[in-house]
Amino acid sequence: MSETIVAAADHGGYDLKIALLPVIAHLGLAVLDLGTHSHDSVDYPDYAEALAAALADGRAQRGLLICGSGIGISIAANRHKFVRAALCHDGLTARLARQHNDANVLVLGGRIIGIETAKECLTTFLTTPFDSGRHAGRVDKLGRVATPG
Ligand code: RB5
Repeated sequence: MSETIVAAADHGGYDLKIALLPVIAHLGLAVLDLGTHSHDSVDYPDYAEALAAALADGRAQRGLLICGSGIGISIAANRHKFVRAALCHDGLTARLARQHNDANVLVLGGRIIGIETAKECLTTFLTTPFDSGRHAGRVDKLGRVATPG
């Protein structure tokens, strides 16, 4: 069965999300678009939350998140233990996010990154396998981090 990629963005990431959805489809993967669907101002934590829910209940296996800088929405997404969201800025960081960190969510800054670099990040992220080996135990520890307070 084909993998489903869930995509979500706030208003700062809306344009880039629209531009990137065809890249996912071109790779033969299904897309679940959770919005936002306009330039109207919204709150990025709500979209990170929606994406995490789609991963948790199995509607999607990996994700793409975009806000203006990529920072806020990656902070929000990484509050979920099973999310490994990587804010990437080029093909190298996207490749390492998969090879070393088994990242399951690619995060981009819609007001930061150019469209061609964003496409490179997304294609690399979706086609690069996890290296496992020495990285497997480290990634496993990420899921065991205790929550203070
Ligand atoms: C929204 O204006 C902006 O703050 C948001 O997209 C993001 O950059 C937050 O980290």
